[in-house]
Amino acid sequence: MIDPDLLVPGAAQARRALDEAGWSAAALDDLLGATARTHLDRGELAPVLRRLRAAPPADRALADLARLLVVGVPAERPTGLPGAWLAGDGTARLRLQPVRHGGVEVQVPHDPPGDDRDLVIGVGAASLTLAAATPRDVVGRVLDLGTGCGVQALLAEDHARTVTATDRNPRAAAYARLAAALHGQEWDVRTGDLLDPVAGERFDLVVSNPPFVIGPAARYTYRDAGMAGDDVCRTLVERLPAHLAPGGTAVLLANWLHLEGEDGDARVRSWLAGTGCDAWVVQRELAAPEEYVTAWLRDTDEGFTTAYDAWLDALAGVEAVAFGVLALRDRSGRPGPGRVVLDAPDQPLAPTWGEQVGAHFAALDLADTDLRAARLRVRDDVRLHQVARRTDEGWSAEVQLLQQEAGLRWSGGVDAYGATLLAGCDGTRPLGDLLLVLASSAGLSEGEAAEQVLPVVAELVRQGFLVGGPPEAASST
Ligand SMILES: C[S@@+](CC[C@H](N)C(=O)[O-])C[C@H]1O[C@@H](n2cnc3c(N)ncnc32)[C@H](O)[C@@H]1O
Repeated sequence: MIDPDLLVPGAAQARRALDEAGWSAAALDDLLGATARTHLDRGELAPVLRRLRAAPPADRALADLARLLVVGVPAERPTGLPGAWLAGDGTARLRLQPVRHGGVEVQVPHDPPGDDRDLVIGVGAASLTLAAATPRDVVGRVLDLGTGCGVQALLAEDHARTVTATDRNPRAAAYARLAAALHGQEWDVRTGDLLDPVAGERFDLVVSNPPFVIGPAARYTYRDAGMAGDDVCRTLVERLPAHLAPGGTAVLLANWLHLEGEDGDARVRSWLAGTGCDAWVVQRELAAPEEYVTAWLRDTDEGFTTAYDAWLDALAGVEAVAFGVLALRDRSGRPGPGRVVLDAPDQPLAPTWGEQVGAHFAALDLADTDLRAARLRVRDDVRLHQVARRTDEGWSAEVQLLQQEAGLRWSGGVDAYGATLLAGCDGTRPLGDLLLVLASSAGLSEGEAAEQVLPVVAELVRQGFLVGGPPEAASST
């Protein structure tokens, strides 16, 4: 494998060559087409190369760059890439992955496929899960812990005053320097274990896709922390709060164990309860050991049968492995202990839902107040779906379903009184006033209405159906 630091000096020249050829995710999608992409994913190169050879003259430079940086074969013509980026046989020493996320596109450099322990891999499903969960409010200092190919740091550049990227693997740190140089960005890249490189420092936002995989041995640096069980995630949760600026947020991916005879939810809650931060767990998967091992072995070249047995043996006593996003918010200035909330949505989430992290903690703050005084409004993306039956009096609603179109996309049934109450939640009137109207139309006392409605409203606030404050001035929905 190349020392990626040797690639950094050529970054500006490479960028020029890419720009001149019209390199972008969309252009590559058009050039390859869906069929060739599928062949590429399956390692069937002949149809891909045929398609690239057929590129119209205007796309030939792009086709050559795609041969080098996407497919991994030599170009047919000179490309303008720096000599240091090419091996003696004409192949590229690295790969370049265009990644579109939330309206931003970045070019992510990484190693060609291989089996080396310190391989720096490209952007995968976990990377995108973290990117989707990352708040994009403009902040001061951002830390990307375990930066690898640098994708989280690249995406953070847009909304951070400074970006610090750390990794234990010196090759990953070098790739991060290359990623920054390719985008004309300046990051503070440091090498070292977990939070050691940032001892004594605090950040407004910490993001981390750590090597969370729970396995028998430290086979790959990008995947295995070399710590027992789920200790790497527990350790990060313990250490991260000391690195959050007042009000700062950390968002990380994690695996945690559900051991036979134990409550796995309680396990992750206990990690977070000790932090003094508010914490939100969004569990995305719960896999039986067999599923978990198979999924990770599918990703690598390890001999399946031997590795499968050894791995499953190492998970003896494990009922399931949970995967999810952990978000922590520093509670500076807020009284009382930190709260821990665990959600396990089984619906597909919006492609980006990082804005829900801040909204979730704001909802917890709001739920702590007397909701009767709150001027609540229905979040802009919430819709009410009705199924109605025709009757002699007209249409009669049989089912009313509230549905979020953004964020965690929660949905839930609501009765006629609830729907009427929500229709009144426009952010201008205190909930207490709306309760009075509801009580009189339902023939209830104010106390009875409050007793029945307030717990439901508190849950609607917690899930984000109702938010505090006046309508958004520039709301388009
Ligand atoms: C799963 S990769 C994430 C890469 C990239 N941030 C992403 O989201 O795609 C995990 C990264 O953590 C790094 N890493 C592994 N052990 C580490 C440790 N003890 N301290 C810091 N980084 C570590 C690996 O080298 C790897 O780059």
